[in-house]
Amino acid sequence: MDQLVIAGGRPLAGEVEVSGAKNAALPILCVSLLTSQTVVFNNVPELRDVGTLLRLVRSMGVAVERKPNRVTLNSETLGEPVAPYDLVKTMRASILVLGPLLARFGHARVSLPGGCAIGERPVDLHIKGLQAMGARIEIEHGYIVGEVGRLKGARIFMDTVTVTGTENLMMAAVLAEGTTVLENAAREPEVVDLGECLISMGARIKGHGTDVITIEGVQFLHGTEYTVMPDRIETGTFLVAAAATGGNVRLVGVRSDTLDAVLDKLIEANAFIECTADQIRIRMRGPNHGVSLRTAPYPAFPTDMQAQFMAMNAVAQGTTVVTETIFENRFMHVQELRRLGANIEVEGNAAIIRGVEKLEGATVMATDLRASASLVIAGLIAHGETVVDRIYHLDRGYEKIEQKLSQLGAGIVRRSVEEV
Ligand code: UD1
Repeated sequence: MDQLVIAGGRPLAGEVEVSGAKNAALPILCVSLLTSQTVVFNNVPELRDVGTLLRLVRSMGVAVERKPNRVTLNSETLGEPVAPYDLVKTMRASILVLGPLLARFGHARVSLPGGCAIGERPVDLHIKGLQAMGARIEIEHGYIVGEVGRLKGARIFMDTVTVTGTENLMMAAVLAEGTTVLENAAREPEVVDLGECLISMGARIKGHGTDVITIEGVQFLHGTEYTVMPDRIETGTFLVAAAATGGNVRLVGVRSDTLDAVLDKLIEANAFIECTADQIRIRMRGPNHGVSLRTAPYPAFPTDMQAQFMAMNAVAQGTTVVTETIFENRFMHVQELRRLGANIEVEGNAAIIRGVEKLEGATVMATDLRASASLVIAGLIAHGETVVDRIYHLDRGYEKIEQKLSQLGAGIVRRSVEEV
């Protein structure tokens, strides 16, 4: 098992390139199931979650060819449309194969995702939407088993905004008979990226990026070559790391238009930000003021950035409040941040952070992907050495994080440790 060893206290400086978006790449790789023709995707990040998804589609018989940041897939010879528990349990996003499999093959067996560190995360809205499109769905021995002749267009209202739910239903609807309208759809940029990718294959989609998406089903989709959008959460994580260490960093290959809420909060925390469409430069104007925030679906502040801001707030002037409204158990990083000296109290879905003068290095344990990023930022701020354990969570979502941070002058190395 790997650890990151961080010698904290150095401001980040320099330039770094942002990778392709994990949360766009995962649904986009699933569109390979919707066509018998070859699809090619560029800017696919080299991440554990991407590896898991590719293993999953390969296990169903999809031909996968992988080059650095480029994946070619062909599902002409798909065998069994089954997503087994062993793969689904390691990554909830595996549920994204359900919609495409039902749309193209008329049947699918996908394991129910198991429990998850950051809350219950049900998939009821995915299932209800597919049922509204005519699929018969049963839960058998822990598997979602779906059957349908051809899916039929439907008007579907989702009572909670769900990102992968919207994506699953979009992928199902593109091959359905008739028109599907998704109401209260997620507006996340990754949903838009998936929509654009599907359109490049001949899908008829309108309204992606708004909360009403209209999809007119077509008989078949053709192959495509598509480039995955830049990762806005990786971008945000580096911006917060730069701000929290009092650094001066330029991020290139970004989509600055997808980061309004995050940039606003950084400015409020006293950062100076210069943007072009694909670059962002950040440095602090003066002391870190910290910032209170509340997570909500896009375009509001993303839950995937909450933990990183909390690390920055830990050493800010004054008291801030971070409120989490999307997931019910997403404060796992709090007790680890406390081990570094942070003063944080949790009351329900709010964390009250009283800024301290400094954090001090310690050994901490990563519990989920974004919590891990928060601990890395805290380690970069802390005096002395911080060891972040269980970084396999980090490898799920950050490409070459220690190389990129080293490039910015951080003292950070990966160490392999034999398990006892
Ligand atoms: C996606 C992102 C994840 C991000 C999250 C919220 C991917 C691969 N992952 O996760 O990084 O943190 O969006 O922005 O894109 N819900 C239901 N029923 C459902 C589905 C969801 O009640 O059928 C609830 C969830 O419990 C949660 C809320 O809806 O409270 C939002 O979850 P959702 O948007 O579905 O998260 P994911 O798509 O799993």
